[in-house]
Amino acid sequence: MALAKQLLALILISAYIIFATSTNAAKPSNKPSTSTKGAVPGQKANVANMVAKQMQAVEKKIIEFNASLKKRPKTPKSSSHRSRECVSECDEVFGAAIDDIKKTLDSLKSLNLVKANFDVSAVATNVDTCNDCFNDIGKGGDAEVKKFGEWVRKITGDALAALQKAA
Ligand SMILES: *[C@@H]1O[C@H](CO)[C@@H](O)[C@H](O)[C@H]1NC(C)=O
Repeated sequence: MALAKQLLALILISAYIIFATSTNAAKPSNKPSTSTKGAVPGQKANVANMVAKQMQAVEKKIIEFNASLKKRPKTPKSSSHRSRECVSECDEVFGAAIDDIKKTLDSLKSLNLVKANFDVSAVATNVDTCNDCFNDIGKGGDAEVKKFGEWVRKITGDALAALQKAA
């Protein structure tokens, strides 16, 4: 009886492991899959690949920039009530931008460049919202946030142009 129970437990554990690894394998990876690349040769796949790399770079920078915003020393300027509100708004819209990047990567994986176009625009808009918040405080906004926003605008602008050409 005890042996049968152990056997049953073993079977359940094995089944769970097989299930977990197979669902894990089915999860969409953030990298463009090489199979779609091979299936649809040519420009579309190349552009999708290039834009995927750009968006992964943007994601990395957003995470870094968010962390640096949160770690700002409590100087009078950065600890003002409104500026702290902006830091938390930025955290929120950066989170949304990262979701948009994940959507972009999915769209690129299925070579849906029209949808990828929308997704990339949403990334840029979300990052702009952070900059807008600081601009609304006045005093010319925040130099670092502005610079970061411009960098994102440049990369997403290039990505949009490439997607439009290839779609
Ligand atoms: C931003 O940083 C905070 C604090 O480190 C973290 O809790 C939050 O998840 C980060 N948000 C994004 C979008 O990376």
